[in-house]
Amino acid sequence: MSVDELAHNPQQAIIAAWLACDDQEKVKALYAKALAQKNALLGDAVHLRGLIELSNICAKDCFYCGIRCSNTKVVRYDLSDEEVLEAADFAQKAGYGSLVIQSGERSAPTFTKRISRLVTEIKSISNNQLGITLSCGEHPLEVYQEWFAAGAHRYLLRIESSNPNLYASLHPSGTRHSYKSRLQALGAVKKAGFQTGTGVMIGLPGQTVFDLADDLLFFKELDVDMVGMGPYLEHVDTPFFTLKETLWPKDKRLAMSLKMIAILRLIMPDINIAATTALQALDPYGREKGVLAGANIIMPNMTMAKVRQNYRIYDLKPGLEEDAELSKSHLEENLAAMGIRIARNEWGDSLHFGKC
Ligand code: 5AD
Repeated sequence: MSVDELAHNPQQAIIAAWLACDDQEKVKALYAKALAQKNALLGDAVHLRGLIELSNICAKDCFYCGIRCSNTKVVRYDLSDEEVLEAADFAQKAGYGSLVIQSGERSAPTFTKRISRLVTEIKSISNNQLGITLSCGEHPLEVYQEWFAAGAHRYLLRIESSNPNLYASLHPSGTRHSYKSRLQALGAVKKAGFQTGTGVMIGLPGQTVFDLADDLLFFKELDVDMVGMGPYLEHVDTPFFTLKETLWPKDKRLAMSLKMIAILRLIMPDINIAATTALQALDPYGREKGVLAGANIIMPNMTMAKVRQNYRIYDLKPGLEEDAELSKSHLEENLAAMGIRIARNEWGDSLHFGKC
């Protein structure tokens, strides 16, 4: 089992064997190769995107997610325009270079038009200096086109699992949660002109290393520009909580997530890969370990402390008591401790975008 084989001949069986491997020497060599690949092609610095969790109001009812619409224990909120612009100002002053607006999924025109307005406004107050990524769920092509025209240029829509049967098991049945619609929405994101990002959860109930290998091949097949993936984590007020005894142990979910990042870096060397917050939930240095396994993006949270606990998609979500400033200093200390440099005031676009 050689690391080079992964890059040259990525096949389900080979990827799955690496995912199942717990020979620490081999795994270390995998991370080292992925890190070297990233450093050579994309540089050694990590790019940051300040995260604004705009609203936890969501039309979806995903079985795994803490802010699913049926969870009546969640206090629902919408940030005000002023709060969003304040966060954008923070991102610019912090030298983050980009921000992400993430939200529960809503289709009302009042919501979709508001996103356009906010994007236009952020572009204007930042003198076009802040790059904007949106992560606001499934919408028709026209909505994506409007948001792109307003100035957003990257979009994240996780497929959650590329296995249609597993996808079906994660969601209620019916048109609102269909695999086909999600795939169509991803196509529309691409068509609208966005740098397109997707991703999956790792360690879902019923998921195998073969599913995960297929997820990586799915990213390659779809030719995405960006990927954000991380461990699945339980939330007490979700239907999936009853399956918690069937899950991989947390250390295995963490190790699997790091291996997924490293293998993806080898099979898609020039894409942006995020070291996600869920990694930090399992290890205080989880995101930094993600970077050392080949990720090149981190999304520090800028959401106001007063609403953070309401955007709890899983129980162990870190930084719930922090504000934007504390999350920033915490991350900077961690990155410094691990010898990772930060790229400031750059968009850090996906090198893959636009290549044939
Ligand atoms: N564990 C891990 N990730 C989760 N997400 C939602 N719920 C959970 C959970 N319980 C992820 C989904 C979604 C993203 C915003 O958060 O992948 O796309």
